Amino acid sequence: MAKLKIYTFPDPILAQKALPVARVDASFFRLADDMLETMYDAPGIGLAANQVGLLQRIVVVDTDFEMEELPEGISPPAGSEVVGGALITGKNPRVLINPEIILQEGTITLEEGCLSVPEYTAEVRRAEKIKVQYLNLDGLTKTMSADGLLAVCIQHEMDHLDGKLFIDRLSPVKKDFAKKRLRKERAEREELDRLKMVALTKGSGIPSSSSKTKKKGI
Ligand code: NI
Repeated sequence: MAKLKIYTFPDPILAQKALPVARVDASFFRLADDMLETMYDAPGIGLAANQVGLLQRIVVVDTDFEMEELPEGISPPAGSEVVGGALITGKNPRVLINPEIILQEGTITLEEGCLSVPEYTAEVRRAEKIKVQYLNLDGLTKTMSADGLLAVCIQHEMDHLDGKLFIDRLSPVKKDFAKKRLRKERAEREELDRLKMVALTKGSGIPSSSSKTKKKGI
């Protein structure tokens, strides 16, 4: 398993539509594993392929697991799983390929955040109950019903596949405000990283890895 890079707003891949998966082959087991590892590590309750730079209609969700910080000096029980210093229990990972909502009912408003929209949350209204049709990792057509947080999470992830973030569902004024703030914060983070890099490389004799030289694509 490998942890993948999570793309954040305003990366253009987050605004693109992912393409339907034509055939589910064995490589999807690895991809789903990597996406789940990335999600738990973040930690998050859902992740769509766009967020890790892939334009394929695949999402992973788990609204059931719990994380508990391990107190210093305490070793985790045998056989338990530790992610980023926290004990993780009650995992219930789900992988949905080419998900489609075939029924929806009611409305629910929950405060949402997103791994691609760091440090920002807002209330979003969505369907309260949904029925989803999707392909599983064996390429079989399945349906599942969900309500509450799981329904919201699946709808949020499916929005990603359509190039939409939860902030795109806010009123025009709120959306504009959020995007300006997020752009500003990202610029500040990047500037801080740049300064750290300069401080690290200055005087150490190690040439700074030039951010100006872009790696060439093949
Ligand atoms: Ni998200």
